[in-house]
Amino acid sequence: MRWVGVAGVGGLILYFSCTSSAPSSAQPEYVGDATCTRCHADIAQAYTRTWKAHSFGRITPNLPRIEDFNQPPVYDPHRNLYYQPRWEDSALYLYEYRLKATDTIYQRRERLDYFIGSGHQTRSYLIWRNGFLYEAPLTWYVRVGKWALSPGYEGGRNTRFAREIQPTCLECHASGWRAVPWTYNRYDTLGGPIGCESCHGPGSQHVQFPHDPAYHWSQWPLSRQIDVCSACHLEGITLTKKSGWRPGLALADYRLVFLPIKPEWGPQGIAAHAERLFLSACYQKGKVTCTTCHEPHPTSPPPPYEKRCQSCHGQKCPHTHHPTKSCISCHMPTGPTSDIPHTHFTDHYIRVVRPESAFGSVRAVPMLRCAMEIMPDSSWLGEAYLRWYSQQSNHPAALSQALELLKRHPRAQALAEALLLAGQPAQALPWAQKALQEDTTLFRLELYAYLLEMTGQPEKALKVWELLRQKAPAYPEADFRATLLAYQLGRLNSAQTYTVLARLTRIQPWNAQFQYNAAILAAQMGEYAQAKAHLKAALAYEPDYPQAREAYQRLTQQ
Ligand code: HEC
Ligand code: HEC
Ligand code: HEC
Ligand code: HEC
Ligand code: HEC
Ligand code: HEC
Ligand code: HEC
Repeated sequence: MRWVGVAGVGGLILYFSCTSSAPSSAQPEYVGDATCTRCHADIAQAYTRTWKAHSFGRITPNLPRIEDFNQPPVYDPHRNLYYQPRWEDSALYLYEYRLKATDTIYQRRERLDYFIGSGHQTRSYLIWRNGFLYEAPLTWYVRVGKWALSPGYEGGRNTRFAREIQPTCLECHASGWRAVPWTYNRYDTLGGPIGCESCHGPGSQHVQFPHDPAYHWSQWPLSRQIDVCSACHLEGITLTKKSGWRPGLALADYRLVFLPIKPEWGPQGIAAHAERLFLSACYQKGKVTCTTCHEPHPTSPPPPYEKRCQSCHGQKCPHTHHPTKSCISCHMPTGPTSDIPHTHFTDHYIRVVRPESAFGSVRAVPMLRCAMEIMPDSSWLGEAYLRWYSQQSNHPAALSQALELLKRHPRAQALAEALLLAGQPAQALPWAQKALQEDTTLFRLELYAYLLEMTGQPEKALKVWELLRQKAPAYPEADFRATLLAYQLGRLNSAQTYTVLARLTRIQPWNAQFQYNAAILAAQMGEYAQAKAHLKAALAYEPDYPQAREAYQRLTQQ
């Protein structure tokens, strides 16, 4: 999650993206798939046939073209924008444009650098510019064979090219990437698909001591094995207790996953396999694990699924009229997902499927439960309600539940955020300060600075922004905030301020706010040509920026 202040426009927007940390650099270290292949060539070969081995990568002309590039453009009626992907020479581009009658009155073209999704369900695209990573607004939906807005961009929520891809996303989909410290979405390496060490853990010590059983999956307790799959296939509201989890360690010591209590039927999330399996008697009483049915890298064709069921249940379905085959067609039906449109998945709640009318009605008050086999204390639950509110549900009851729990069982950072969301920045401030004493992070410092500004303490806020600028030199927003505030407080003159802003527009030319504010300062200094150039750039990236358009019109009339 991250706070975004909108300069020149006012207000504070909160939007979702997860916080998490990069792989731990503590021993042992990651060595990369090529090293594993040296000694396990047959397994490495088998692994290439899985979806995982193609989950993420750079877009090159050799990438198999599973998409249809001859389809008509996708239209977003809420933003009045068209989208069309197109290969040109050896690169893939996404065009965004607006029409007036048949005239194109606005057009933006972005190169798509990486894909995410092997293309069995969907494939989305990423833009990597000056190290900053964003999601593109268009996705290919395999099952229906068509282009549409990316998941979460529909119904007026199209954030165009601005959705940051933070490390959490890559933790589940990629390997070998390296995030720049003290930034949200900046990377100096992006790496490749999910690899051997995503499941086996960092292998440097194993390479030296192959016979050390610590690296042998079969030596881990069952719960540790399933933790590896759950780390990615149990998607919910995830709270980080401490960073540094890797395969072989107990997930619950590092993370807590909470899930909304919902009816047993109906669409489930795309990454709900573990959540559903945990409800099944086969898991609870039979100790079925993911690998009972899935071999991560089968070197010969795996047996049909019936065989696995029959290993515990005998040849025949105990229900006398039922067959000895296709157990899964009745007991693990497929259906659509709740979070990603146009996809199908296999329901892993193995059971006798009853009609929906056999269950009670849906709860009126939304409730969360912890998916781990421990009872977390109430302060964690309070934080989970907060994240649920800000990330997914926006249900007012979730926020009041968060506040109620957190006031009784405070967790400083979470309480500060909850109070701010409830419109009480003054009450939030002392908690934000306390949270910083526990741990100093980009997110915490930034929240504290905003709270100081909101509560009318610009001098103190400036000090915090200046500290942030020092700690986070690769995060241009800190420089932007510190500079604008210093200017507003009379510490910098127009020329000094403009110099900084002009530099920031070179680091993030697509940041329309940087361009707009640079234009205002240039205009104040009488540099009208420069001001116009900045405004033109702002509008080339953000056609719906009324202040920029108005300023541009005024300048062209002069
Ligand atoms: C220098 C050769 C070598 C390299 C490099 C190597 N391994 Fe191994 N690996 C072995 C040997 C030999 C064994 C068998 C050890 C035994 O049975 O006691 C083994 C066993 C394993 C096992 C355990 C099998 C079991 O019984 O549970 C796993 C898992 C494994 N390797 C994964 C990897 C991964 C992942 C990498 C890359 C990070 C890798 N290996 C790199 C030689 C290597
Ligand atoms: C907790 C782990 C987790 C996180 C975080 C996560 N995903 Fe996923 N995602 C998954 C899993 C697991 C699947 C595969 C589900 C399946 O195939 O049934 C998936 C599926 C997908 C697919 C479809 C892949 C296919 O099968 O073709 C895309 C695209 C995708 N995710 C994009 C994203 C993006 C973009 C983000 C970050 C905003 C993200 N995911 C965050 C776990 C995660
Ligand atoms: C999706 C998680 C996952 C990924 C990715 C993965 N493995 Fe495994 N690997 C497992 C599991 C689980 C087992 C144990 C299988 C079992 O118990 O039947 C295993 C077993 C092994 C073994 C020992 C058993 C055997 O079949 O000889 C080796 C060696 C191994 N993996 C190497 C690799 C290498 C090399 C890669 C990358 C090319 C890789 N693994 C990628 C999960 C994974
Ligand atoms: C690092 C995150 C991660 C881990 C760990 C992980 N998965 Fe996955 N898995 C994914 C993602 C993401 C996909 C979808 C890849 C795609 O289609 O782009 C996937 C796909 C799958 C699929 C679809 C078929 C295929 O060929 O990949 C199965 C089955 C699966 N995972 C089972 C498992 C099991 C079993 C484990 C534990 C041994 C496991 N996964 C561990 C992220 C993970
Ligand atoms: C009792 C058998 C069984 C167990 C246990 C099991 N699966 Fe599956 N899984 C299936 C079947 C059957 C399919 C459908 C695959 C197909 O059509 O080939 C499937 C498909 C999948 C897929 C592909 C996407 C989809 O939904 O169709 C993923 C990902 C997956 N399983 C992950 C997991 C994970 C993670 C676990 C452990 C938490 C797990 N599975 C445990 C039987 C099982
Ligand atoms: C590792 C052993 C094991 C495997 C493999 C297994 N199960 Fe089960 N299953 C069990 C146990 C144990 C129970 C609980 C029986 C009881 O309550 O008496 C159970 C219960 C069930 C039930 C009844 C569920 C309920 O809630 O009443 C169904 C249906 C079922 N299994 C189907 C399957 C199917 C289909 C497969 C294969 C996809 C499968 N099982 C694989 C062990 C297993
Ligand atoms: C055509 C659909 C269908 C197929 C195929 C099917 N089942 Fe069933 N199964 C059912 C139904 C329906 C019930 C519930 C019967 C009842 O309670 O009236 C059931 C019940 C069960 C139960 C629970 C029995 C109990 O009452 O505890 C198990 C275990 C089970 N099936 C396993 C299997 C296995 C293993 C296979 C494959 C060899 C299989 N089923 C194939 C429909 C099917």
